[in-house]
Formats: sequence, structure tokens, C-alpha cells
Amino acid sequence: MGVKSWILPLLLLQILFGKFGIAELDQHTERISGSAGDVLEDDPVGRLKVFVYELPLKYNKKIVGRDPRCLNHMFAAEIFMHRFLLTSPVRTLNPEEADWFYTPVYTTCDLTPNGLPLPFKSPRVMRSAIQFISTNWPYWNRTEGADHFFLVPHDFGACFHYQEEKAIQRGILPLLKKATLVQTFGQENHVCLKEGSIIIPPYAPPQKMQAHMITPDTPRSIFVYFRGLFYDVGNDPEGGYYARGARASLWENFKNNPLFDISTEHPTTYYEDMQRAVFCLCPLGWAPWSPRLVEGVVFGCIPVIIADDIVLPFADAIPWEEIGVFVAEKDVPNLDTILTNIPIDVILRKQRLLANPSMKQAMLFPQPAQPGDAFHQILNGLARKLPHDKSIYLKPGERTLNWTAGPKGDLKPW
Ligand SMILES: *[C@@H]1O[C@H](CO)[C@@H](O)[C@H](O)[C@H]1NC(C)=O
Ligand SMILES: *[C@@H]1O[C@H](CO)[C@@H](O)[C@H](O)[C@H]1NC(C)=O
Repeated sequence: MGVKSWILPLLLLQILFGKFGIAELDQHTERISGSAGDVLEDDPVGRLKVFVYELPLKYNKKIVGRDPRCLNHMFAAEIFMHRFLLTSPVRTLNPEEADWFYTPVYTTCDLTPNGLPLPFKSPRVMRSAIQFISTNWPYWNRTEGADHFFLVPHDFGACFHYQEEKAIQRGILPLLKKATLVQTFGQENHVCLKEGSIIIPPYAPPQKMQAHMITPDTPRSIFVYFRGLFYDVGNDPEGGYYARGARASLWENFKNNPLFDISTEHPTTYYEDMQRAVFCLCPLGWAPWSPRLVEGVVFGCIPVIIADDIVLPFADAIPWEEIGVFVAEKDVPNLDTILTNIPIDVILRKQRLLANPSMKQAMLFPQPAQPGDAFHQILNGLARKLPHDKSIYLKPGERTLNWTAGPKGDLKPW
């Protein structure tokens, strides 16, 4: 397409989003009542009781004490969920009345100098923690973990590897076969996502995002916005493997397109820019998920999700189809046509739904916690699984998990 054909859409955009952007929130907020959207406001208190195991500090506090970067990392949910539960009214000190058991083990807080996670010790740390709870309390053996939940926010959850191929080879840690996993990784029909897992948003720093809020009537003058890698040359020297080629295609097709504000440069105005954009691209990277999804929702920028078969956070409570745009990886070359063909009224409706504060709240892990935030959505998800099926309780002495299954290296003590 020549430059001329862009003039009309650009003009239209300036008129529509300049004048009628998400101005006064009251008039421009919409909620989906009587559908999944309402579940976000459920109060989990009184619907479940959680027992928090007390572990030696080497499984949690000491790990984060050694590297405080873990507190700002996109995997920080494993730490903040622990802190949240300690003072939550759903906590019970009496394990006999607990519906769920929680083991506070930080398996992701092991970072390279560049801040990338090193999940190589994670299986041993997790195994060791399970060994500890199963020898010191009777509850693990009762169900082999079926009434226990664990936070595993790694790239590929409890597969504990950042490369998909290796993660698939490893599979989910055998000891976690029966437990409920709370994880950021979500992709349909993938060995690293088992049935019944709760998918959560990655951690994004709430105070920092709040500090960058600009006035909501700021015109959305950027059509498409994206900052991030297109090629991960360091880890993917041949190219084409990273993001299954979707990001490379994005760059090659749209680097010179005036509607696309895309680059690898992360400006200091990144958060503000998202509030000035209509569409924010959320393509897969090494894993299908990224913090852009959270940022898009919080900043009212319609997330354009490019990650085939992704399972999105709290998908049983958040109407993702209505607030976001889904584009198949193979359709990236047509992204301009796809996005410019979305009718204005559809765009405005998505913006109104995004303006609903309960949608934003569900994406964040604020400290202190607030009603409807991601902590509460996790509890709601756990409450919806109750009561437990009686079949989870084993006969005395009955065992089905294999403690020696999995790679030999994982069996070394930690
Ligand atoms: C749980 O079972 C294991 C063997 O599978 C045993 O070593 C352990 O002592 C049991 N825990 C309790 C608290 O009885
Ligand atoms: C447990 O797993 C190991 C390693 O894969 C295997 O050698 C062993 O036979 C398994 N034990 C049972 C009881 O299935």
C-alpha cells in the first residue's frame, strides 16, 4: 500500500480518538453484566480456608534476601502471594479445617547478572520442600498433594526450563502431578499446562505503573505500539525460532509503516506511550505470555494478542475476547489490514470495557492487597474448585506418585 491510502485512516483516528477517547470515565466505562466479567468482584473470604506451611527460611526469605531483584521481577508473584496469605482472613492456623494447603517455596528467585531466571535448581528446591512437608505433617500423604497449591511463575511453569523444547522434554515435575499449579504459563494442549491449573498475570510493579498514569482524556494518537525484541540474536543465532518467527515478521512487514510505532528501544515514556496508543501488541516471545498484557489492560490500550493457543490469566473471569484482539501468528503480515478494518464502535466498546477498574485490578498484585486484585482472583479460582472430590483422599498406605521419576539430576538433595 502506498502512503496515500494511510491518510484517511490517520485522519479518522485523529478525529475519533482525539475527540472521543476515553474521556470522563463515568460515561465511558462499560461492564459486561450477567457474564463472566462480574465474577471479578467476588469476595473469597468465607469461601475457603488456606493453611500456610511453615518452612525453614532457606526455602523463601533467605532466597529473596540474597537477591532483592526478585521483588521487582515479573515472577515476583511467588513472593507476594506468600506475604499476602500470611495476613489474609482466609488463612487458618488449624490445618484440620483447611480446604487448601500452601507451601511457600520461591523456586524462581535465582537470577543471572542480567536478571534472567535460572530454573536449574528449581526442581531440587521444590522436591526438597515437598519432602519437608510430607515428613513433618500428615496432609501431603493423605492426597499426595491434590489439596495443595503451588505458585510456579516460570516461563513454562513447573516444567522448569526457559527453552520450550527442553521444557517439553522435562514435563511437569512428577511430584506435582496431583497438586494445583498457579502459573503464568498458559497454552492449550501443552505438556507444561495441566488441567485445573490457575493462570495468573505476570507481576508488573503497581506503584511504578500508578506513578506514570497520565490524564485519561489524553488523545490516543498512536495507532499501534510495541517495544521489545524482534530477534533474540544472543539465544537464537540462526533466527526464526524466537517467537516462532512472529516478531521477526512484525518488524520486516511494518518497520516503515507510519501506523506502527514499533522499536527495540525502551523509552522512559514507555508507560505514558501505552496510554497514548489504541492498540498494544502482545506477541509471544520465548513463552506465549509477557507483561505487555498487564500493561495494556492497566493503561487502557487494547491488547493485540499474537500467541496461538495462549490461555490467558483468569480466563474464566475476564472476557478476553471482548476486550482484546486475537491475531493468529501466521496472519502477522496482514496485521495492518486486520486492525484498520476493526469498526470504530467495536474499538470504542473495547476501550470502555478496559476502563472498568475491576479489569485493571485483577491484573495487579498491589501491596497492601486490594479487593478484586490478582491475589483475590487466585483465591476465587481456588474457591471455585471446592468442595474437593472425595476420590482425592487415598487409602492409608496407598501411594501413586513415583518419587524417583524424572531426570537423575533432579534427585540430588538440595
Ligand atoms: C509420608 O509417606 C512417606 C513415604 O511415602 C513417609 O516417609 C513419611 O514419613 C510419611 N509422612 C508422615 C507424616 O507420615
Ligand atoms: C519410578 O521411576 C523410575 C525412574 O523413571 C523407574 O525406574 C521406576 O521403575 C519407577 N517406579 C515405579 C514404581 O513405577
